[in-house]
Amino acid sequence: MEHNVILAIETSCDETAAALVASDLSIVSSVVSSQIDLHASFGGVVPEIAGRAHVELLEPVVDEALRRGGRTPRDPRIDAVAVTAGPGLIGSLLVGLSGAKAMAAAWDVPFLGINHLEGHLFAAQLEAPDLEVPYVVLLVSGGHTMLIAVDEPGRYRLLGETIDDAAGEAYDKVARYCGLGYPGGPAIDRLAAEGNPQALAFPRSMLNEGLDFSFSGLKTSVVRAIERDGSLDVADVAASFQQAVVDVLVAKSMRAVEEVGATAIVLGGGVAANSALRAAMQEAATEAGVRCALPSLAMCTDNAAMIAAAGWHRLRTVGGDSLELGADPSMALELVR
Ligand code: KG4
Ligand code: ZN
Repeated sequence: MEHNVILAIETSCDETAAALVASDLSIVSSVVSSQIDLHASFGGVVPEIAGRAHVELLEPVVDEALRRGGRTPRDPRIDAVAVTAGPGLIGSLLVGLSGAKAMAAAWDVPFLGINHLEGHLFAAQLEAPDLEVPYVVLLVSGGHTMLIAVDEPGRYRLLGETIDDAAGEAYDKVARYCGLGYPGGPAIDRLAAEGNPQALAFPRSMLNEGLDFSFSGLKTSVVRAIERDGSLDVADVAASFQQAVVDVLVAKSMRAVEEVGATAIVLGGGVAANSALRAAMQEAATEAGVRCALPSLAMCTDNAAMIAAAGWHRLRTVGGDSLELGADPSMALELVR
C-alpha cells in the first residue's frame, strides 16, 4: 500500500542521517552514518571535518534511505522534505539545509525547517504513539539538559534546565580526563558496570532545589578526587560519577512528573541511551505509578526519523517554510509560558 511519506535529513552535528517516515509515523527507512571514527582521534567533533564529511555522505545516505523505501531520486514519491535548521554546527547544518532545499525545489514539494530539539521531543512518539498528554520529557544530550512538559504535541513548557554544563558534556569531560576517549558517555556507561557506585561520595548538586540542574561542580569534584589519589580505580570513579548524575536526573524528573500531574516520563537525547539512567528511571516511574517511555538506543541518539516526525507536525500545523530560511546554530525551542 502506498503511504504519504516525508523525507527528512539531519546533519546538525557528526551524524549524517536521512529517513522516510509515513503519515501514521511508521518508519519506512532510517539511515544513520556516524562520523565517530573520523573525530575520535581528536577527542571531540572537529567542525571543519564534520562539514566536509556531510558533503561527501549526504547524497549516498539520502539515496540509501530512498532505495530502502522502494524509491529513487528520479521517482521519489515524497510529500515534503524536512531538515534540521538548528541548533548545531553552522557548517554542518548548511550542508543538510541546502541539500534539502534543492530536493524540495526539484521535486516541487513543501520544504520544512525543523528544530533539532523538537526532533528529540518527537522521537518517543515514533515508538510510543499511544503516549497520553500531559507528559514530561527529560532531554539529555551533549548540548542540553532540560525538563519539558508536553501539554499537547507542539506545546512545550520549560520546567528546568542546566545552569552550566549539559549532562552529556559532563560525561564527555570526565571521560576525557580519565583518558577514556570520545565519545565519553558510552565509555563511562560500560566501565561503570564494573565499578562500585558507592565508592566515592560525589555531590548531587541542587538535588532538593527546584528543577534546574548543575553539573560543573560534580565534574570538578571528580577531577579533584583523582588529583588527590592517583591510585583510584577508574571503574569506581566512573560508577560513582554516573550514580551522582543518575540520582539527580531521576529525582528531578519524578518531581516534575508530580508537579505537572503527568501520565509519563519520556527520555530523549544521547544520554538517554545510558543503561543506569534507563534502569533507575524505569524503577522510579513504576514506584510512582506512571509510565516510563524509553526510546530505543537508535532513537535516543541523533537520527532523521525524529526530524521527519516533527516535520509531519509542522506540515499539518504551519505548512511549508520559505526556501529563504537560514541555518540557526543557536535556534531555541519555541515555548509557551
Ligand atoms: O543527542 P546526541 O546524540 O547529540 C547531541 O548532543 O545533540 O547526544 C550525544 C551525547 C554525548 O555527550 C554522549 O557522550 C552522550 O550523548 N551519550 C551517553 C551515552 N551514549 C551517548 N551518555 C551516557 N551514557 C551513554 N550510554
Ligand atoms: Zn541531538
